[in-house]
Amino acid sequence: MRTPTLETNVSLRSYNTFGIDAHARLFARFASAEELRALLQLPDVQQAEKLILGGGSNLLFTKDFEGVVLKNEIRGLEITEEDTASGTALVRAGAGESWHGLVQFALDQDLSGIENLSLIPGTVGAAPLQNIGAYGAELQDTFEYLEAMEISTGAVRTFDRAACGFGYRESVFKGPLKNQFIVTSVVFRLLREARLNVSYGAIATTLQDMGIDTDPTPRQVSEAIISIRRSKLPDPAEIGNAGSFFKNPELSQHKYDELKVAYPDLPGYPVPGGVKVPAAWLIEHSGWKGHRRGDYGVHDRQALVLVNHGAARGADIQALAYEIIASVRAKFGVELHPEVNIM
Ligand code: FAD
Ligand code: EPU
Repeated sequence: MRTPTLETNVSLRSYNTFGIDAHARLFARFASAEELRALLQLPDVQQAEKLILGGGSNLLFTKDFEGVVLKNEIRGLEITEEDTASGTALVRAGAGESWHGLVQFALDQDLSGIENLSLIPGTVGAAPLQNIGAYGAELQDTFEYLEAMEISTGAVRTFDRAACGFGYRESVFKGPLKNQFIVTSVVFRLLREARLNVSYGAIATTLQDMGIDTDPTPRQVSEAIISIRRSKLPDPAEIGNAGSFFKNPELSQHKYDELKVAYPDLPGYPVPGGVKVPAAWLIEHSGWKGHRRGDYGVHDRQALVLVNHGAARGADIQALAYEIIASVRAKFGVELHPEVNIM
C-alpha cells in the first residue's frame, strides 16, 4: 500500500468536465480500500469536509472547495462467477475504473446488458449514485451489489439493489445516505446470450444507416449508440459541459393534458404516475437554445446542456441555470431540478 499523501491548493480544472478552475484546499488520491481507510484516519481529513471525485463529469464547482477532495483510483475488472444455469456472469469493477472501459470490457468478454450505456463519461463508482441511464437502459437493470466504505467508521458495507433505492437519476446515496459512503466496487450481472434493446430513439435507424438490418451484435448496438451520442452531445474535451444539466420533469397526467392544449407539439413519455417531458424542449421553447454570454451558455444543438466555452466561472453557470429554471416555471408552470451536483 502507498502511504497516502495530502497535496494542498490543487487546481481542479483538469478534474471536472466543465473545465472550471476551482481549487481544492486539500487533495489526495486512493487506489485501494486500504489506502482510503488510511486517508480517512488522518486528522486533517477527519476534520475537513470531503468530496469524493470520480471523473468530475457531473459536478459544477461554483467556488473553491475548502475541504479535502478524495480522488478515486481503485482499478480492477474481472469476471468473478459464471452461472451457466441462468446464462449470466458476475463482473466486478473497481470504483475508479472508467464506465466506458467497463462497457468495452464486457463486450470483449462477450457479455451484454450495458451496451446501451456506452460512452457515458465518468467512473464506475459514481454510476450508482444517480443510477445512470440512456437509450432505454439504466444501471439498475444489471446491477447486482456494490461495496462502500462508511466515512465515519471505515467499515465496508454491501448494498444490494433494494438497499440502493434506485430511481430516475436517484439513489439513497444522493438522498438519506448522502456524503456518508464511498463506493469502492460495483458488481454487475451480465448476459451470455444478448437480449438487445434497440427500440429507443434513433438506435434502429442508425443501425440501418450502418448497413445492419437484422440481428445486430451487442458491439454493433454499442457502436450505433456511440455514433448517436457523438452527433448529439458536445465532447467535454472540446467544450466544457456535464451532460444534461437538469433532469427531465415528470408531470401528472392532468398537468400534461393542460399543457398539451396550449402546446400541442410538447413531447411526452408515459411513466408510472404521470408523463415525463423533455426538459430540453421546455428550455428551447423558452428561448434559451444557443444562448451565449461571454464564455458560457446553452449548447446550440442540445438545450439541456449548459456549456463553458473557455474561462467561464461556475457561479455564472449556476446563475444562468437559475434563470432558466425561473423562465421555464413562468412560461410552463413546470419546475426543473438540476441533475448536476452543484458545489
Ligand atoms: P463525478 O462527477 O466525479 O461525481 C458525481 C457525484 O458522485 C459527486 O457528488 C461525487 O462526490 C459522487 N461520487 C463520485 N464517485 C463516488 C464514489 N466512488 N462514492 C461515492 N460518491 C461518489 N449521465 C447519465 O446518467 N446518462 C447519460 O447519458 C450521461 N451523459 C453524459 C454526457 C456527457 C458529455 C457528460 C459530461 C456527462 C454525462 N452524464 C450522463 C453524467 C455523468 O457522466 C454521470 O453522472 C457519471 O456517472 C458521473 O461520473 P463521475 O465519475 O464523473 O462522477
Ligand atoms: N429536444 C428539444 N430540444 C433540444 C434537444 C432535445 O426539444 O435541443 C427534445 C426533442 O423532442 C427530443 C427530446 O427532447 O426528442 C429528447 O432529447 P434527447 O434524446 O437528446 O434526450 P434528453 O431527454 O435530452 C436524456 C438523458 C440523457 C441521455 C439521453 C438518451 C436526462 C436528464 N437526460 O436526454 O442523459 O443520454 O436521454 O437516453 O434524462 C445525462 O443524464 O447527463 C444525459 C446526457
